[in-house]
Amino acid sequence: MSKAEPVDQRSQDQLKMERIVSLCKRRGFIFPSSEIYGGTGSVWDYGPVGALLKNNVKAAWWRAAVQQRDDMVGLDAAILMHPRVWEASGHVAGFTDPLVDCKKCKQRFRADDIQGDRCPNCGGELTEARPFNLMFKTFMGPIEDEAAVTYLRPETCQGIFVNFKNVLTSSRKKPPFGIAQIGKSFRNEITTGNFTFRSREFEQYEIEFFVPPEQADQWFEYWVNERFKWYVGLGIHEQNLRLRPHREDELAHYASCCTDVEYSFPFGWSELEGIANRGDFDLRRHQESSGKDLAYFDEGEKRRYLPFVIEPSGGVDRSVLAFLVDAYEEIPGGRGSAGAEVESVLRLHPRLAPIKAAVLPLVRRDGMPDRARAIYDDLRRYWFVDYDEGGSIGRRYRRQDEIGTPFGITIDSQTLQDGTVTVRDRDTMEQVRVAADRLVAFIREKLGEC
Ligand code: GAP
Repeated sequence: MSKAEPVDQRSQDQLKMERIVSLCKRRGFIFPSSEIYGGTGSVWDYGPVGALLKNNVKAAWWRAAVQQRDDMVGLDAAILMHPRVWEASGHVAGFTDPLVDCKKCKQRFRADDIQGDRCPNCGGELTEARPFNLMFKTFMGPIEDEAAVTYLRPETCQGIFVNFKNVLTSSRKKPPFGIAQIGKSFRNEITTGNFTFRSREFEQYEIEFFVPPEQADQWFEYWVNERFKWYVGLGIHEQNLRLRPHREDELAHYASCCTDVEYSFPFGWSELEGIANRGDFDLRRHQESSGKDLAYFDEGEKRRYLPFVIEPSGGVDRSVLAFLVDAYEEIPGGRGSAGAEVESVLRLHPRLAPIKAAVLPLVRRDGMPDRARAIYDDLRRYWFVDYDEGGSIGRRYRRQDEIGTPFGITIDSQTLQDGTVTVRDRDTMEQVRVAADRLVAFIREKLGEC
């Protein structure tokens, strides 16, 4: 958050974030991991609707990155890799943050998070900063000695680099082409926080796009724009997104340039994704370290080269958080005639919404529940759909608005006469009558799944 921002705005932003965290817990989006044991503070579990939302975000990414492109293939590499991968990648030597300890209260901090030279907790004296490696160490096999040490991967992309040749030969792709992957990564972050924003276990979606070296700049520009558009296309307000090129002094050791896609979270502008030009750093290092030739031979041009890599690397959890924050709206007094209550609506893009429709019999008699159940059974062959017959219809609509369900389908007395239902739009609250046997086509069209 910028220092110039008025205190009022800051506390409102803080309040908004607290309400979102509370909604996530109350409605089953995100829970603190191991909560009955006091939680871990830096690891999170996705609840019933959260898991659906996260899966939808990943599916939307996979669809745009892999399914709809001729020049991309997918991969699902293992989390545990040969330890030499992390030596070649530079992580064993250099994936560190500067750590300081307070000599008095023993708390630990990231040195670059601290202003001044005293402990922010108790004012005590701090130790000299020393490098702290962020990789989680473990042992492969039953013997816990140095030879068995390996790591939980801190980024998914190394699985792509070490499989470059396997994919090249099995898929018959040639540069420019990309390999895309979604998967868990682990970092023993010194400071965590801002809900799921900085966690120790998180998911990444990464593309390694292999190009002839002379095309690297043009592909870099292309991917920066493409990735920005992806967030906007899924409903994030453009004014809440920005592109921020890295300064020389903040570039990672492997990158010659990098631009972040940032989102204006209630806690300030923060990185969702970085698009980097990694050059041939990784292929070269793995080639040297493994002794295997990782160069590509271009038959047409009779030229052998190590491709350069453009890497759009994003965090699934951060995107989910941005989609939630951006979609969240509070309406003091509510939208209905009853007034008084604060209503919250999650205006998620219909594609991302965990539940696509709720089927609601107006009353629990006159055969309406039976009719509603039949419609529910029909729709859930295609999507996640809720059935709810408990409480007033207004209350049931609000329950769905809170988790972002785009369509409320009500079965009333007219349904029994002419076979039509009302479909209520979450955002406008407008209701239209649709023939029950046209519901699948109606929803499909609204979701853009033609
Ligand atoms: N392969 C390059 C790479 O991993 P990074 O900037 O370190 O680059 C990429 O990470 C993305 O992964 C970030 O933009 C962010 O979205 C996500 N990410 C990184 N650390 C994270 C953490 N501790 N918690 C949640 N997401 C994280």
